[in-house]
Amino acid sequence: MFRTIEWLDDTSQVRLIDQTKLPLVLEYIVTGSHERIAEAIRTMEIRGAPAIGAAAGMGMALAALESKARTIGKMIESLEKAAVTLNTRPTAVNLTWATTRMLQVARTTIGSVDTIIQRLIEEAKEIAEEDVRMCRRIGENALELIKPSFTIQTICNAGSLATVDLGTVGAVVRVAHERYGGNIKVYSAETRPRQQGARLTVFEFMKDNIDTTLITDGMIGTVFREGRVDCCVVGADRILRTGHIINKVGTYTMAITAKYHKIPFYSAAPTSTVDMETAPDDVIIEERDPDEVRMINGEYITVPNAKVYNPAFDMTPPELIDAIITDRGIVRNPTEKKMRALLSK
Ligand code: MRU
Repeated sequence: MFRTIEWLDDTSQVRLIDQTKLPLVLEYIVTGSHERIAEAIRTMEIRGAPAIGAAAGMGMALAALESKARTIGKMIESLEKAAVTLNTRPTAVNLTWATTRMLQVARTTIGSVDTIIQRLIEEAKEIAEEDVRMCRRIGENALELIKPSFTIQTICNAGSLATVDLGTVGAVVRVAHERYGGNIKVYSAETRPRQQGARLTVFEFMKDNIDTTLITDGMIGTVFREGRVDCCVVGADRILRTGHIINKVGTYTMAITAKYHKIPFYSAAPTSTVDMETAPDDVIIEERDPDEVRMINGEYITVPNAKVYNPAFDMTPPELIDAIITDRGIVRNPTEKKMRALLSK
């Protein structure tokens, strides 16, 4: 559809869509500052696990260009600082994955400071291109599970806007839609409090002429009971070796409800989202500003000092997940053994 984030070769800057303005205004942010990229990630001008991974990669390349370092040691120091600055959200593993990968490239490049800068620019562009290829493969692999005329329930936005190009759930929907002559339909849950489902998923699927129905999060049970959907496909911010998936808050409730109604529940994500290190209890779930819950479009919808709990993500255990769809293949009924086998492919 469009590139969520892009490296501009002619000016050595990064261009990204400001997702806080969508769907009413399509506006781009163009910047040469890694601190501005960090701010864009923090304020969710760019969001979605693979997209913030790509942004962090490009942020590291910008930090190298911005650095005044004249020695390799000093350059590595400024990049280590930039990695800390860019890691503004704790849950999606793609952020640390991208900054660690960029630091590794800087540390292992032989040559001058300028060679490091050039290598980091190439690597940042490669992270973005890899994401495009991985999403396409996710969509192709999902054809084993998604049949013609399927209606797919999703939550949040794991479409183009959450990645560089096609999306993860976006790829599952778009590739099947393409392959089956345009008869895939989507139900999109609004996704309180930031409304990524309403603002972003509906916007991008409608742009691609995919039949999309918006529901509020509380309507999921009714939609399932009435037999309106054939399966659920959600994204993931982190997939653990145990097969747990961490995704937008509301995913867990959807998975429990799907199990009750015997509706298959799938998560689609690139292997860059897999974290083989962290145990379920050690995952940090981001808690965001209480005003995100107290307000809609800048207006209070409750008592202004109402006590609020606002976790941005939740964790779904493997027993509720029928399959994880990745670029390297499908893992049915995920277990640690199967996750290890997937990563060794
Ligand atoms: O808070 P967000 O909008 O960054 O949360 C995004 C999600 O939860 C997505 O489902 C996830 O990142 C997967 S995107 C392909």
